[in-house]
Amino acid sequence: MASKKSGGKAGGRKTAKKTTIDTYNPHLGEPDIKPKGWLRSHEWFKREDRDGFSRRSWMKNQGRAAHLFDGRPVIGICQTWSEFNPCNSHFRILADYVKRGVYEMGGFPLEFPVTSLGEVILRPTAMLFRNLAAMDVEEAIRANPMDGVVLLVGCDKTTPALLMGAASCDLPTIALSGGPMLNGRFRGGTLGSGTSVWKFTAQLKTGEITQEDMSEAEACMSRSPGHCMTMGTASTMASMVEALGVGLPTNAAIPAVDARRTALAHQVGRRIVEMVKEDMRLSKILTKQAFENAIRANGAIGGSTNAVVHLLAIAGRMGVDLTLDDWDRLGQNMPCLVNLMPSGEYLMEEFYYAGGLPVVLKEIGHLLHKNALTVNGKTIWDNVKDAVNYDEKVITPLKKPFKPQGGIAVLRGNLAPDGAVIKPSAATPKLMKHRGRAVVFDNLKDYYERIDDPKLDVDENCVLVLRNCGPKGYPGFPEVGNFALPAKLLKKGVEDMIRISDARMSGTAYGTVILHTAPEAAAGGPLALVKSGDIIELDVKKRTLHLDVSDEELAKRRAAWTPPAPHDTRGYVKLYTDTVLQADKGVDLDFLVGKSGAKVPKESH
Ligand code: FES
Repeated sequence: MASKKSGGKAGGRKTAKKTTIDTYNPHLGEPDIKPKGWLRSHEWFKREDRDGFSRRSWMKNQGRAAHLFDGRPVIGICQTWSEFNPCNSHFRILADYVKRGVYEMGGFPLEFPVTSLGEVILRPTAMLFRNLAAMDVEEAIRANPMDGVVLLVGCDKTTPALLMGAASCDLPTIALSGGPMLNGRFRGGTLGSGTSVWKFTAQLKTGEITQEDMSEAEACMSRSPGHCMTMGTASTMASMVEALGVGLPTNAAIPAVDARRTALAHQVGRRIVEMVKEDMRLSKILTKQAFENAIRANGAIGGSTNAVVHLLAIAGRMGVDLTLDDWDRLGQNMPCLVNLMPSGEYLMEEFYYAGGLPVVLKEIGHLLHKNALTVNGKTIWDNVKDAVNYDEKVITPLKKPFKPQGGIAVLRGNLAPDGAVIKPSAATPKLMKHRGRAVVFDNLKDYYERIDDPKLDVDENCVLVLRNCGPKGYPGFPEVGNFALPAKLLKKGVEDMIRISDARMSGTAYGTVILHTAPEAAAGGPLALVKSGDIIELDVKKRTLHLDVSDEELAKRRAAWTPPAPHDTRGYVKLYTDTVLQADKGVDLDFLVGKSGAKVPKESH
C-alpha cells in the first residue's frame, strides 16, 4: 500500500523519518504508519517473506488451515486453567466456547497459558505471586501475535493479575469470570466457602464440633467447579469486572456449572472480534469513572477489602489516579444491599437467581457515572436500567438496605499514617468506637505460640495486634488479618474483638478487623513500635486509629528498632521485597506501574 512520507525538518531540527508499511524493516519492529486495517498479528502471519513462511509453517503443525492466516483478527485466550487451581478447573471448557464465538465472527482464537494462582494451595500466599503472574501476562500478550485478548479469570488473584498485565498492554480486552461454585450443603444447612471454615475452626476450638464433623463437611462445601461462592474476593472481583465494564453483563454471578456460563463465554468470543475491529482498547473502558463506579458497587455488594489493593494496582497500570481517599469518599454512606455471606445469609447462586449485579447497579444508578462505556459497546446504565429484582431478601432495595454501611472505611492516625482499612459491614457495631489495651504478636509464629496459652494476659476489651505480615514482612501480604481469638475467650462466648495488622483478610472472613496498615511494620511503620499494654483508640466514624503513646516515647522506640533480615537474597522473593509498594499504593512492584502498550517487538531470526 502506498505510504505517506513524513519526517524532515521541524523548527530547524531534524526529526526521525517515520517508517511506513512499505519502507520499514520488519526486523526492527512495528511500522510507524500503518495502512488501514493493519493488525499487529499481520507482522507475524500476513507477510510474504521468510519469517511469514516460518510463522505460518510452524503454526500449521497444529492442523490450522491456510485461510486462518489471511489477516483476520487473532484473539489470545489467556488461560489460567491448572489442576493446582481448583477454582479454575473448568476453564478449558470455557475456552472452547470462547473459540466458537471467535470463529463465528471471522477471528482466529489461540489459547495461551499463564501463571495460575490457586488461592488455597499456594505458599506462602497467592498474593506474593499476583505481580509475577501480571508480568507473565503482560509479556506474553506483547510478545505474541494477538490483536485482542480474552482473560479467563476466577480464583481470587487471577482476576487482578490478568487485568493488571492486560492493562499495561492496552489491547482490546474482555475479562470472563469462571463463576462461583454451587452452594455448599451439609446436614440440611448451607455452607459458604471460607466463611464456614472460619466458623468451624472456632467451633472446633470450643469443642462444639469434632474433627470427624469437619472432615465430612469438606466435600459438602466444595461441590462443583468454580470459585468461592460467598461474597469473598473472587465473587467481589467478578463483580468488579462487571461494574468496571470490562466484562459482559451478568458476568459476576452465573454459577460456574450453569449452562448460561458457557453461553456467556460464547458471546465473549463473538464480541472480542468486534472490539478489535472497533479498536476498543482497555483504556477506553478503564477510566476514572469506571473505577469510581466499581468502588460504589463494592460498597453496595459488601465486597472484599482485597478489592482495595487490586483496584489501586489496576488503576496504577492504566495511569488512572485512584487513591485510598477515593475509596473512603465513595464508600461513605454507601449502604450494603446484598445479603450474602460473610456479612449475610445467602450465597452467589441466590444472588444470580435474584437478578445479580445488574439489579444492584440499577438500584444505585443515581450514584454511578451512567455514561461509562462497557465492553459490549453500551454504557453501564444501558446495560442495567431494565434489570428486575426477583428476590428482595437477597438484594434489598436502597430504601430498605440490608446494612446501612457497606463501603470500606479508611482509617488514619499515628498508627497508620498512610492508612488502614476496615469493612464496617463485617464488623461488630459496638466495637466501631473503642479504646483498649494492646496485646502484641510480633509475627505469625509468635501468635501461634501464645494465642491459646491460658496464661496470656488478655480479655475481650483488648486490641489484638499482629505485625510483620505485610507485603515485605511476610513476605507477600497474606490473608491472616482475621486471626482467631484466644481459645479461652471463645469458650467464654466472646465472638469478636478488634484486631489490627499489616496483613490482608480473606474476603470470606468477618469481624472488627483493621487491615492493610501502612506503612507496614517491616518497612518501619509505627505498627513496629507498639508494645503490649499500650492503649489504642479506634473511632471508625471519625476515621481515626490512634496509639496513645507520646511522640517522644515513639521516637525512642524508633531509634531502638532494627529492620527484619531479608527473606531471601536471590530470585523472585528478592525482587518482590526490594520493589513492592505499600498497601495504599496497591502492592504492585514499583517498576511495573504504568503501561508500555503492545507495540510489535523486533524480530530475532
Ligand atoms: Fe479460589 Fe476462593 S479459593 S476463589
